[in-house]
Amino acid sequence: MIDNVLLSVAGLRYAYGSRVAVDAISFDIRRGEIFGFLGPNGAGKTTTIACIAGLLGDWRGEMRFGGAPFTPARRTADRRRLGIVPQELAIYEGLSGRENLMFFGRLAGLAGDALARAVKSGLEVSGLVDRAGDRVSKYSGGMKRRLNIAAGDLHQPELLLLDEPTVGVDPQSRNHMFESLEALRKGGRTLIYTTHYMEEAQKLCDRVAIMNEGRIIALGSPQDLAGEAGVASGNLEEVFLKLTGRSLRDE
Ligand SMILES: Nc1ncnc2c1ncn2[C@@H]1O[C@H](COP(=O)(O)OP(=O)(O)OP(=O)(O)O)[C@@H](O)[C@H]1O
Ligand SMILES: [Mg+2]
Repeated sequence: MIDNVLLSVAGLRYAYGSRVAVDAISFDIRRGEIFGFLGPNGAGKTTTIACIAGLLGDWRGEMRFGGAPFTPARRTADRRRLGIVPQELAIYEGLSGRENLMFFGRLAGLAGDALARAVKSGLEVSGLVDRAGDRVSKYSGGMKRRLNIAAGDLHQPELLLLDEPTVGVDPQSRNHMFESLEALRKGGRTLIYTTHYMEEAQKLCDRVAIMNEGRIIALGSPQDLAGEAGVASGNLEEVFLKLTGRSLRDE
């Protein structure tokens, strides 16, 4: 069972000054799963991702990656095991899709044939082969989002972190993006995915941690969570309402 765990997090706590944003949370990410953090604005999703990504270093608790101590803020080797797809788009509008991927691939340490292969595969997975030579400023919002994901995944990290990747994406592009993520998972990737859209978590995630005010208030498969909360419809929004007495989207 332990072999099955890629990242284990125990008692993770982070405070911005006196404001505790993540309050001693514990969870395991299993190899090959899509793990979701679902919660309202301010729940602590981005802070959790930032600690795992090494963007915040002064957290308390313990993280282990593949069984070994994990300190991504201090060790480049730890950081290289991750791909990060940030909440804001991090691609260059004035470059083409292919040029963007070449640039991010070099940043991730790729060169030569390995770089060419990674760019080709990134364009394929994101469905942008036909538009690879066009400037990103000509892309739709959904195409930019997919390119953003490909840019974070070029070095084929073991774990890909995606923070609210569907904000500002229309439903059709959203479905296209889910296909890209499923393709990555089929390729052996493990994914962590944050969202405040319960439909997405329900559709895409093998397991979900529901966060509220810095804590994990429920963790399991969407079906299990609904079952435990006695929500017959299976709807995670209702699960959240039942657990907290308020709606996921009341802010
Ligand atoms: N740089 C910061 N300085 C001070 N407080 C912060 C900072 N970033 C986040 N916080 C606070 O920490 C808490 C958790 O914020 P976080 O951004 O992790 O939530 P989130 O779940 O990602 O929310 P959202 O859905 O709005 O992205 C909130 O109370 C927020 O106000
Ligand atoms: Mg956030």
